Amino acid sequence: MKDQKVALITGSNRGIGFETAKQLGEKGIAVILTARKLSVAEAAAAQLTAQSIDAYGIQLDVNNAAERKAVAAYISDKFGKLDILVNNAGIGPKEDSLMVKKTTETTADELHEIFETNVFSIIYLTNDLLPLLKKSPAGRIVNLSSILGSLTIHAQENSPISFSRRLSYNASKAALNMYTIHLADELANTNIKVNSAHPGWVKTELGGVEIAPMEIADGAKTSVSLSLVGTDGPNGRFIHMEEELPW
Ligand SMILES: NC(=O)c1ccc[n+]([C@@H]2O[C@H](COP(=O)([O-])OP(=O)(O)OC[C@H]3O[C@@H](n4cnc5c(N)ncnc54)[C@H](OP(=O)(O)O)[C@@H]3O)[C@@H](O)[C@H]2O)c1
Repeated sequence: MKDQKVALITGSNRGIGFETAKQLGEKGIAVILTARKLSVAEAAAAQLTAQSIDAYGIQLDVNNAAERKAVAAYISDKFGKLDILVNNAGIGPKEDSLMVKKTTETTADELHEIFETNVFSIIYLTNDLLPLLKKSPAGRIVNLSSILGSLTIHAQENSPISFSRRLSYNASKAALNMYTIHLADELANTNIKVNSAHPGWVKTELGGVEIAPMEIADGAKTSVSLSLVGTDGPNGRFIHMEEELPW
């Protein structure tokens, strides 16, 4: 279809990423779903194709440099541009939940693993895809952050998020927010807008299916709306459900 928008959503085999792909696809956007295994990505895309969505599945472990380059080559060959990049793939600590406070016991392995996926890979992948985003008349980058990355809210007396002081995850999202601010500033005179999204506390494997209050369909709404902001929309902002959050 001529002028059809193209979106790439990382980590979209399940959770908020899959739902974001579905909701963007329902708006007529061609959606590229990624998973660490090709068969899993293809199965996720097939679920959407069955709902008449223009969906494609490709393999991407965001930590794999060769796979990041291969994704850029695939999009360049097939579409020649990228309109929307949703940096959704993210992880928490392996062993326990985000509510286990272990600041002084945080291991180097945990810090490295979480920063690699939640920060470094996003920077590398975005760099690989920027030439394609620059070919879009309205490129949009959405970085899946978290309110848990808000320095301002953590620092408040009686902070409402003090129940979760997991250094590795929270610091990774704060660092990602810094990337959003810096990249948005650098790209301010281009057609590209860059924002951080807090999806809400959502019933996924990461959020906790039993304890999180928000349904996945609602958890994808902030990513979807930031993917579609107009020329007068936010740039370099931290947003939850159309409302701005403090950094
Ligand atoms: N759920 C919440 O309450 C909440 C709140 C604030 C922010 N967030 C953020 O929202 C985003 C999505 O979270 P979610 O709740 O939907 O989590 P989820 O259900 O655990 O899904 C995470 C997705 O990321 C993928 N992923 C993890 N590491 C990857 C890697 N190295 N390469 C490629 N894909 C990878 C997973 O793939 P596999 O299936 O292969 O593991 C999965 O598809 C994350 O960035 C998270 O930090 C979530």
